[in-house]
Amino acid sequence: MDLLILGGSWFVGRVIADDAVARGWNVTVFNRGRSASSPEGVHTIHGDRESAHDLARLAEAGPWDAVIDVAGTVPTMVRDAARALRPATNRYALVSSVSVYTGWPAEPVTEASPLHDGDPDRSDEEGPTHTYGAMKVGCEAAVRREFASDRVLIVRPGVVLGPHEYVGRLKWWLNRALRGGRILAPGRPDRPIQPIDVRDLAAFVLDRIADGGSGTFNLAPPADSSTYRDLLVACLEATGGRGELLWIDEEWLAAQDVRQWTELPLWRVPPGTWAMDTKRATAAGLTCRPLAETVHDTWGWLSAGGRAVDHERDAEHGIDPQKERALLESAETEEAVRLREAFPG
Ligand SMILES: NC(=O)c1ccc[n+]([C@@H]2O[C@H](COP(=O)([O-])OP(=O)(O)OC[C@H]3O[C@@H](n4cnc5c(N)ncnc54)[C@H](OP(=O)(O)O)[C@@H]3O)[C@@H](O)[C@H]2O)c1
Repeated sequence: MDLLILGGSWFVGRVIADDAVARGWNVTVFNRGRSASSPEGVHTIHGDRESAHDLARLAEAGPWDAVIDVAGTVPTMVRDAARALRPATNRYALVSSVSVYTGWPAEPVTEASPLHDGDPDRSDEEGPTHTYGAMKVGCEAAVRREFASDRVLIVRPGVVLGPHEYVGRLKWWLNRALRGGRILAPGRPDRPIQPIDVRDLAAFVLDRIADGGSGTFNLAPPADSSTYRDLLVACLEATGGRGELLWIDEEWLAAQDVRQWTELPLWRVPPGTWAMDTKRATAAGLTCRPLAETVHDTWGWLSAGGRAVDHERDAEHGIDPQKERALLESAETEEAVRLREAFPG
């Protein structure tokens, strides 16, 4: 297989490239060479996807069996790449997002759920009227306009975790678990959680490409496969197992000045957050490793000196230790602690 990855050096693209190289495929990655080195075993073409000249030069280096557009978020950039590469590739795969659905995270979504309004010719950055989700819908529409539907593969992952992850959600919880002591555990221990391991995402995309597959797939483990407790216990186990989880009442916590999703990463109360329907991907062959394996392998990677590419979103994650301590003290006083679990190490 001859594969072109647009991007390929940060996280999702990097891991897809690693997997494809391990399969013995010929892999080319196209990026500016600014922020990270290319994975081993790939052929690199440097260029800017915002430049028509660079895209034309890239197309001349084909043909490929498939192009995977990993990190497209601006519709016109995806449109221009798809148009330039159409003569040079059989198929076009796009990594989209669960954020395309109007109902997410308020309600469970299937692939047939309503989408935001997305414009394939939108060129500017997202703004108050055009969110990340609407931009991703525009990217999907741009690919569909350039390629017949049997040549398009679109995957819509929820949260993606694993080695090389640069948003920093799991890294924060791992470092918090390493610090130990009394740990603010938000809400219900049995709250479902369904982040996908980046390696499972990569395997699914490459398997579909190898099968000549097309279509649109939500990508996540089944909604009931893991809980928030599984996540925190795995973080404690991976880092040494010392600490005490204090599970704090969800309503009490929501009434405090705590930012869901970022201050306490991966904690979000709307009922659809972790209720994405993934039956279609499962039927097509998606297999997901246990969450504990993702957690342990990410800690293994970090402890061995693994460093993700610098990204501004990393700084958004995690609660200030003083604020956490103050919240724990108030929760004790106001009897908002619902459960305590000690992990002696
Ligand atoms: N993280 C999550 O939880 C999550 C959830 C749902 C969906 N997603 C989606 O998953 C994808 C994640 O992608 P990733 O960032 O990990 O992909 P990646 O392919 O590993 O990295 C992004 C690549 O784009 C290159 N790049 C950036 N601007 C470029 C330009 N103008 N021209 C050419 N290359 C350029 C970067 O290299 P240079 O800077 O060197 O050019 C880098 O190689 C995104 O589509 C995201 O929306 C993520």
